[in-house]
Amino acid sequence: MKQLSDVQLLKTRSFINGQWQKNSSTFDVINPANNERVATVDNAGIEETELAVIAAKAALTLWSKKSANERAILLRRWFDLVMENKDDLGRILTLEQGKPLAEAIGEVSYGAAFIEWFAEEGKRVYGDTIAAPSADKRIIVIKQPVGVVAAITPWNFPNAMIARKAAAALAAGCTFVVRPATLTPLSALALAELAQRAGIPDGVFNVVVGKDSAGMGKVLTQHPDVAKFTFTGSTGVGKKLLTQCATTVKKVSMELGGNAPFIVFDDADIDAAVAGAIVSKYRNAGQTCVCTNRILVQDTIADSFIEKFSQAVKNLSLGEGFTPGVNVGPMISIAAIEDVNNLVKLSIEAGATLIAGGKVDEKGDKFYQPTILINVSNDMPIASNEIFGPVAPIITFTSEEEAIALANDTEYGLAAYFYARDIGRVWRVAEGLDFGMIGINEGIISNAAAPFGGVKQSGNGREGSKYGLDDYLEIKYLCMGGI
Ligand code: SIN
Repeated sequence: MKQLSDVQLLKTRSFINGQWQKNSSTFDVINPANNERVATVDNAGIEETELAVIAAKAALTLWSKKSANERAILLRRWFDLVMENKDDLGRILTLEQGKPLAEAIGEVSYGAAFIEWFAEEGKRVYGDTIAAPSADKRIIVIKQPVGVVAAITPWNFPNAMIARKAAAALAAGCTFVVRPATLTPLSALALAELAQRAGIPDGVFNVVVGKDSAGMGKVLTQHPDVAKFTFTGSTGVGKKLLTQCATTVKKVSMELGGNAPFIVFDDADIDAAVAGAIVSKYRNAGQTCVCTNRILVQDTIADSFIEKFSQAVKNLSLGEGFTPGVNVGPMISIAAIEDVNNLVKLSIEAGATLIAGGKVDEKGDKFYQPTILINVSNDMPIASNEIFGPVAPIITFTSEEEAIALANDTEYGLAAYFYARDIGRVWRVAEGLDFGMIGINEGIISNAAAPFGGVKQSGNGREGSKYGLDDYLEIKYLCMGGI
């Protein structure tokens, strides 16, 4: 099961200007499920990151001058190769990240969908002509690629977060340098191998893997040849990177943390709400920015919801990602487990009641049991912090106004979910929630056709959809006179 059909997809060196870069020092990639070494990877640093930026700059002229059709053909080939190799890419992803194999293969297809989407969308970059204020002038607006794009991507989606950014950047005519998380560099390197096989020219897509996050991050956020910086990760780190980007006034887009409320109103289909809450909460062991962070249930239906939800949580299968039937895998690290455990402990001390899980499972040191806390209030640590783990805190409310106020009482604004049937309520709540994405009677909302992104301290910019190209394009205004 864990054997790759194509062992050439397991790459262990940075990919710069079409070359696999050797380094003298190395680091190990560890399988979080069993703490075994998956691979030893060459450790790049500041120097290699600079080389990658220089390569991306050199490749920009030719790449940006290709027609959108020419770029689309290469991106489409890349998409085809990713899909042809999705089982192997899924295996690599499960080995380094831990998520169940079916979910890992699902992530690969999800990532590939962005490559397919932007291959097409790149052909639909439109400009404008605007009525000029005087008869001897014409106003024209054209759109051009921003330039070299630098990205830092997280361990929770080692494939899709790169594909989502790179596909839009490349389709727009930009070149790309990514530093993936050092916990999960193998998926990124496999994508580079397939980009090369697809015929994407040297220097257009570069991957630098290395432990010096501060040093490499400085290059990517401050190098004068980087025109745009994009990051997916925590709000805390995002703020530091934003500050660094200010020194050269880069165009930025940030997909940062979330604290998603999942609201169940008294007119909801409770079974559907339970099913939505389960996938939205326990997907990727709760380690996504859009995972449900707080379940808000109307008091009149709370008992019935909690009973059904508890039963569904009992049916979840926690285990190693290659075991058939497993739907909740390990967490990424001991530190992540400790953070979650601490939030649970503090909230129980503050009055919450544990009704399921609440501890590390005997399956191993990274396996945290799917957990439910009731009698939670919005100011408890488990509700006010981004949990990033398989814990569902349940809060009750009385009225629609109270639910909206509780939901919005956070500095985050990424995703929110609610279940209701009354059409007036659906509109009121959808419009009242201060979040960039709202799932209405739906627990999984991410797809290539939709604009992914947040408001407030959850970031800026949008990824995917027709809006996703805008972050990689500059608007240029041409004023023609003397007519
Ligand atoms: C994330 O957690 O950052 C991404 C989740 C998604 O794309 O659905």
